[in-house]
Amino acid sequence: MRLISAGGHQIKAQTGEELQVCRIAVRDLTRDRGEWVDRSILTDDPNEVVNDPDIDIVVEVMGGIDPARHLIESAISAGKSVVTANKALLAVAGAELTKLADDSRKDIFFEAAVAGGIPLIRSLRVSLAGERVRRIAGIVNGTTNFILSSMSDSGASYAEALRIATDLGYAEADPTADVEGDDARAKAAILATVAFGKLVRFEDVYREGITKITSDDIAFAKRHGFEIKLLAICELDENAGGSETISVRVHPSLVPASHPLALVRDSFNAVFVTGDAVGELMFYGRGAGGSPTASAVLGDIIDAAHNLSYGVTERQLSRDSAAIVDIATTSNSFYVALDVEDRPGVLAQVASIFGRNLVSIYSMEQEGKGDEARLVFITHTAPEAALHSTLEELEELETVKRVAGFIRVFDA
Ligand SMILES: NC(=O)c1ccc[n+]([C@@H]2O[C@H](COP(=O)([O-])OP(=O)(O)OC[C@H]3O[C@@H](n4cnc5c(N)ncnc54)[C@H](OP(=O)(O)O)[C@@H]3O)[C@@H](O)[C@H]2O)c1
Repeated sequence: MRLISAGGHQIKAQTGEELQVCRIAVRDLTRDRGEWVDRSILTDDPNEVVNDPDIDIVVEVMGGIDPARHLIESAISAGKSVVTANKALLAVAGAELTKLADDSRKDIFFEAAVAGGIPLIRSLRVSLAGERVRRIAGIVNGTTNFILSSMSDSGASYAEALRIATDLGYAEADPTADVEGDDARAKAAILATVAFGKLVRFEDVYREGITKITSDDIAFAKRHGFEIKLLAICELDENAGGSETISVRVHPSLVPASHPLALVRDSFNAVFVTGDAVGELMFYGRGAGGSPTASAVLGDIIDAAHNLSYGVTERQLSRDSAAIVDIATTSNSFYVALDVEDRPGVLAQVASIFGRNLVSIYSMEQEGKGDEARLVFITHTAPEAALHSTLEELEELETVKRVAGFIRVFDA
């Protein structure tokens, strides 16, 4: 509302579109909304928005699956275009909603759903429409990047860093969706769908969060030239017969300190896109917050208004299901930390289990002594399945007290 009220003339001059906000649905009619909101257009019944015949474009920024899904369906069925920021809904019902929009010859835009103010969706959907995108790898959750950056900068524990993030408003009272990786998982599903032109759903995305990352993991990573980041990684692979598979995963990763993603601090987002013709691109900026998100929403509203004026719609996304690769069949280099008994022969026992599973060791370090003894390994590239068999065997070993850390190394 603030951007439209204050910038309406400039929007009209720049784009030719004149926007008028007719109705706003909220939960609480008594809350202060600032001087730019005309209180007479407020309602606490969202149906009054989607059923109003004077409204051409409905903006859904209420969040959640229901009633948002039902309201968007009603709006499209009533002949309106929709702008939404709702990644959770798109990741589970994006195919159905885009089909409904397509069949109704209306638009559904969702730039703000991934990486907030960063113009990523439109870049993939429009500017890179002819590009063979091979990989998208990025930091798409500001809360976890804030936590990991403060652990790295100050040596804070995960719990301390989470508390600071909550105090500063970077983490919600219930941070589960962020720290367990589900927010990034929804965004990864949307990104892969847009970039590869095949439907990837929320449940197709492998996900691990950051709750098990310790300050010891971060300290080891730093000593060896890495930062730990929660990455969303979407990869397209062409098999020998010409068929395509897609791997989409969200997990903590050791990123080489010299890589641009390692330098992304605070709550910023950054996404690396690799394409055949264009090479490497990096998108960087604010992935959340009122103004950046509103900027993306407003761009969508102007596009939707333009399309309505010209009686056209955006090119729609493919809804053919992607052939998803199980993470167990992928390969990576790994960081493994083991708390062990401090006695002769332990290292040989451990090394033989790595060897038996054909996991080759790139580097090894012993930290601490006595009760504090820890072995830390970085492996060469090995199949996930081989690494998991290795961990299972190591956990059986009497001299291994526990697997204290296990993180994939980003193949930069
Ligand atoms: N916040 C961000 O930085 C950001 C970034 C990208 C995407 N998003 C997405 O944007 C959506 C909203 O997130 P948010 O953080 O902005 O949430 P929020 O602060 O809770 O805002 C939600 C708004 O929707 C209204 N609302 C919610 N349920 C309603 C209902 N049943 N009927 C009428 N009005 C209702 C609320 O009214 P009241 O004001 O009366 O409570 C509030 O104004 C989510 O899908 C989120 O994933 C947010």
